[in-house]
Amino acid sequence: MGIKINESITWVGKKDWELRHFHGVEYSTHRGSSYNSYLVRDEKVALIDTVWKPYAKEFVANLKKEIDLKQIDYIIINHGEEDHSGALPELMKEIPDTPIYCTKNGVRSLKGQYHMDWNFITVKTGDRLSLGKKELIFIEARMLHWPDSMFCYLTGDNVLFSNDAFGQHYASEFLFNDQVDQAELYQEAIKYYANILTPFSSFVEKKINEFVSLNLPVSMILTSHGVSWRNNPLQIVEQYMKWAQDYQENQITLIYDTMWNGTREMAEAIAAGIKAAKPDINVKQYNIGRSDKNDVITEVFKSKAILVGSPTINKGILSSVSAILEEIRGLEFKNKKASAFGTYGWSGESVKMITNLLKECGMEIIDDGIRSQWNPDDDFKAQCTEYGKHIANAVG
Ligand code: FEO
Repeated sequence: MGIKINESITWVGKKDWELRHFHGVEYSTHRGSSYNSYLVRDEKVALIDTVWKPYAKEFVANLKKEIDLKQIDYIIINHGEEDHSGALPELMKEIPDTPIYCTKNGVRSLKGQYHMDWNFITVKTGDRLSLGKKELIFIEARMLHWPDSMFCYLTGDNVLFSNDAFGQHYASEFLFNDQVDQAELYQEAIKYYANILTPFSSFVEKKINEFVSLNLPVSMILTSHGVSWRNNPLQIVEQYMKWAQDYQENQITLIYDTMWNGTREMAEAIAAGIKAAKPDINVKQYNIGRSDKNDVITEVFKSKAILVGSPTINKGILSSVSAILEEIRGLEFKNKKASAFGTYGWSGESVKMITNLLKECGMEIIDDGIRSQWNPDDDFKAQCTEYGKHIANAVG
């Protein structure tokens, strides 16, 4: 059932407590997610976004309890991805002529996915739709995070409907930021930015500056995932500005996998060296074979430098290490240093191979890395510790 937000806006979305992966298995959702849809009532009624396809029938059934569907004058689709548009086919069976407002790319995306010639109305930045006393103003948000994405803003209530931007994959019985555990909220918000929005950081910065220049007052930011923002809603906008500017904390992250613990022992000795040289640096270690890749990506996002390790296997590296490097490459992190380490028994290609992959990831390579033939003995562990000190000094 719907949850009333104020006199004109009702949340009519779906909370997905069970969800553990999103985008196939690309994104882990330890705390579930939600697909937020909003009904805006004035003299005219607008529905903003829908929910993911598996919940389409439930969504339409619940919406009918909230309103006679024929009273919906406009449907706004801020973004065509299926988690927001997935209930459209079910809804449009009931109200087939209702106009759907979206960007030009939104029409392409919706037609491409559903192959239906619905009554599309194309909008662009600055276009307005009167609901009676209030208006919706459309603001294209290209590449936040798809080419079709847009925001809309409700005058009078001063509410920004931001779709994916400023959201989190986070199921909660509550709707707003001030009602939930702040550490959980921060963790889910930064993970969402690191894993989804990092490659689009230049667009984030530009779009936020453009929105700020419109001088529109904001009382709430209603997102399409997780909890929304009230009580200083612009705090998340300020946070996005920080995250968009090659964000880093005083952190070095070691990411490795290991066959017989030799590479792990190297990681521990290197970490001890970093700590000895610079006690204030937060040094974190992840065996990527046993860790959630999206959580590790979040740690990469926070790091000044990463050290990546693998033993040599079949003249190459462990598949878990190549997989996380491929993920890092796609996210186009900026302003980060990197180096490689690893053990080998015979041919010993892993460190060179990782170094080349780190270059392809756009990392600034600190040096040629360090490798140990067979398992490191105490002398070699001492060399690793010295190497860690060298890394700490190089990173600063
Ligand atoms: Fe939440 Fe881009 O979909």
